[in-house]
Amino acid sequence: MRKHFSIAIDGPAGAGKSTVAKAVAKALGAVYLDTGAMYRTMGLYMSDNGITGPERIASASAKPEVQVRFIGDAQHMVLDGTDVTDRIHTPEASLMASKVSAVPAVRERMVALQREIAQGQSVVMDGRDIGTYVLPDATLKIYLTASCEVRAERRHRQLVAAGKDEPYEKVLSEIVERDFNDAHRAVSPMRQADDAVRMDTSDMTEEQVVEAIVERAKAAIAA
Ligand code: DC
Repeated sequence: MRKHFSIAIDGPAGAGKSTVAKAVAKALGAVYLDTGAMYRTMGLYMSDNGITGPERIASASAKPEVQVRFIGDAQHMVLDGTDVTDRIHTPEASLMASKVSAVPAVRERMVALQREIAQGQSVVMDGRDIGTYVLPDATLKIYLTASCEVRAERRHRQLVAAGKDEPYEKVLSEIVERDFNDAHRAVSPMRQADDAVRMDTSDMTEEQVVEAIVERAKAAIAA
């Protein structure tokens, strides 16, 4: 068995990556790293400081101190010493994250931090470019997807459960816009790695997805 392993789970917004990755990490005794939360934190810094446009974002990107802190198995994001975990999941933060993630200087900083975290321990990492760029030698790569409508329904349900109701049509159009931005940016666009296993979760339960990934992961780790 290898010393450390890494599992990359990529795919579009709302495919269920974070819930699934968290459960897979728990089953395998690995750390779960949500890389989207890191871009969201950078996005929050830019919007809090009124910094817009790729050039201004690039030149401001070295300033904030962005830290990932694990409290139990929960990932907290710390921005310049303040825990901002509760502020990074609004629809506005999502769009801002998508914008800052297209800026190469932002990606360089975040990828360096992600690789550092993966170096010393076994990880399950979710994002858009984990299998294609961040961890090209990952033990297992999964590309998780589902139809836009199913993903929008899931996001809508999460927002309603959190008391932050938004019209379904708005959630759907935001998902379509983010997919487009994430797949068409010049640097590390979202795409399936050639050696990734593609799973369409539109008609699968969360448990089925987790079970399928854990099974593949165990086989890959033992190989
Ligand atoms: O996974 P998420 O919805 O929290 O991601 C927020 C945004 O960050 C998303 O629009 C794409 C971007 N992102 C990225 O470009 N690369 C990653 N590894 C993770 C997220």
